[in-house]
Amino acid sequence: MAKLAMAGAKVAPRHCRGAVKHLHLSVGKDPTSEMIVSFASKWSEPGVSAPIAGIHVGRSPDQLDRFVGEQELPVRYTSALVRHQDQHYYSPFQHHITIDQLEPDTVYYYVAVLGDRSDGIDVLRETALRYHPSQRVHENTVAENIIMQAEEMANEDNEDDFRRLRRKLAPPPYDGHEKPCYEGHQVRSFKTAPVPVNPVSGEHATATFAIIGDLGQFTHSQETLENMRDNREGIDAVVLVGDIAYTDYDHRRWDTFFDFLDDFSIFDEVPFQVAIGNHDIDKQEDGNEIFQAYETRFRMPQVYPPELGTFDGPSGLLNMDAPPYPLPYEWGNAYYVFDYGPAKHIVLSAYSAMEPGSPQYEWFKAELENADRSVTPWVLVTIHTPIYNTFALHAHDLQIFAAREHLEPLFVEYHVNVVFTGHIHAYQRTANVAMDEIVETGPVHITVGAGGRKCDAPYKAEEAEHWVEQRDASFYGYGKFQIFNATHAEWRWIPLSSADEHAYNVVKGEEVHLPQLDHDMVVMENQYFLAQS
Ligand SMILES: [Fe+2]
Repeated sequence: MAKLAMAGAKVAPRHCRGAVKHLHLSVGKDPTSEMIVSFASKWSEPGVSAPIAGIHVGRSPDQLDRFVGEQELPVRYTSALVRHQDQHYYSPFQHHITIDQLEPDTVYYYVAVLGDRSDGIDVLRETALRYHPSQRVHENTVAENIIMQAEEMANEDNEDDFRRLRRKLAPPPYDGHEKPCYEGHQVRSFKTAPVPVNPVSGEHATATFAIIGDLGQFTHSQETLENMRDNREGIDAVVLVGDIAYTDYDHRRWDTFFDFLDDFSIFDEVPFQVAIGNHDIDKQEDGNEIFQAYETRFRMPQVYPPELGTFDGPSGLLNMDAPPYPLPYEWGNAYYVFDYGPAKHIVLSAYSAMEPGSPQYEWFKAELENADRSVTPWVLVTIHTPIYNTFALHAHDLQIFAAREHLEPLFVEYHVNVVFTGHIHAYQRTANVAMDEIVETGPVHITVGAGGRKCDAPYKAEEAEHWVEQRDASFYGYGKFQIFNATHAEWRWIPLSSADEHAYNVVKGEEVHLPQLDHDMVVMENQYFLAQS
């Protein structure tokens, strides 16, 4: 046991009995009028009933005069724990409530509330907030979930398996156990999206999006979130380009990840739009289920309900660094679209099929065809895997070959403005490119995988490819895309700390130290209109 305890990272989700926790927002299908509020409540062990939930919302923090009850039952899932073969993980009940009929460009205040399901929704609606039992400040309590004892119960018999399965140990997850429980009873606020075009002036709305990638729950992840939180003024939504929690087969890490978000909170007030990465596949170690946590814990503005199959391969571990392609996951949170002010965001799945004829391809093509650039002049695509990659990692990913073959022609034909990616724990911005050539009207590809997971990407070569504008793998950070009007926007890379190991960049296989990129900012002209002129 001692050996395992030393080798493994302590995984300790915070236990706050029955309280609202892990609050995060997503825009609805129409971000001018809908916001989706997601949060967790009780652990869903056998015999525990799910609380009933609702949202009090209003235009003033003192007057939450509207109540929105849950539209669907809370969801949950279970998972085996790799190192504890007799143990099972039971996720918290996850609640997703859509607030609709909101006014555009308006600040709202809200509180999520929980009640006893047997009392019914009317009791929850009528219970005065300040007296509601679910809204009391909760102290840390003794674990009610059996998994809390699991670290102590590690079995020496598992050691070989453990070593085999986890050759590359994940660093410790976020440990918020000593911190007080999240104050789920507090009133929070959010702002709805503006209408794209002002009906009086005819001018386009402005918007700013923060883009982060490969976040995790590590030292530098904390720095990224802290910086974003402290500079959140003006950020309308945050897009995470995939590789979210780095669970490494241990689903308690999803809870420590959301504990982390609770302690450095921003997504309970700013919409958090996520894309899937390879580390979000979360295949069951003793089964073939995939993407369960991603589909359960998030609720994006889905096109259709999820069609989530099982992995058609051996039960056991899946190589997360090089997963098979494609995986059976369609719709739901896998790929979706939202229009926010002057931007159409199309979030794609690198892990679902993308060949012509596939649901994702045909839907994506139709979205591009139907994009009205007089309304949403900016079309922004998010996909985890970068087509353009100056780093000596992930050169043989099947997903990258597929995206290059099937998606890039669409990016080019329909003048996608920017393709945001991650996967490589580094930063890279290309010139306007189309099929490896610099073309003025081609998309710009921006990789922002340096959100927190270890920066360790050497360059392929000392001399950058002709399409590279900027590159760096020595700083953690994130970026902001600020749209001024229909024709101009600014991209800004925000580097934070240097990688611990080196304040310079390296080239694979060579003893060369290349300088760091300590800033990057570019004003972009909308390629769609360049192509029309
Ligand atoms: Fe990745």
